[in-house]
Amino acid sequence: MHECVSNIKKLEDLENCFMKILIINGPNLNLLGIRERGIYGDNSFENYLDKLKKKYHEISIEYFQSNTEGEIINKIHETGFSYTGIILNAGAYTHTSIAIADAISTITKPVIEVHISNVFRREKFRHKSYIAPVCKGSISGFGLNSYRLALESFID
Ligand code: DQA
Repeated sequence: MHECVSNIKKLEDLENCFMKILIINGPNLNLLGIRERGIYGDNSFENYLDKLKKKYHEISIEYFQSNTEGEIINKIHETGFSYTGIILNAGAYTHTSIAIADAISTITKPVIEVHISNVFRREKFRHKSYIAPVCKGSISGFGLNSYRLALESFID
């Protein structure tokens, strides 16, 4: 039995139990907690994810990180027709990758773009997102809580 089934306490939990969300982190986001801590904070993503999974124990949350554009695209193809949705922090590929934007256009399930930092308060090259126009919505600037806000957007 899936862990979420044993945790059902109310009808809402049962509905969420069927939700399958994939979080994808792109390049350099494996080094959260070490990398540019003034911008991205001291927390590792694994640590944050643990807490998020506990808080939303009724939702199936999977995680994938890659520093490689093609692997991110493969993962979007693999999950984007069957999962409830994808939360994507494409890192610097946000500002360069037409290929990731095309992958998002190809699939049928919604993708939420997230950024830890507020990209609009940073260098001009970070103001352009190739993926924003093909995503359901974008969340930027709330630290790691950007992921929680994206997750909550899937809950009615
Ligand atoms: C980022 C913002 C991007 O501009 C940057 O290249 C990243 C992280 C963020 O989460 O704030 O790698 O996506």
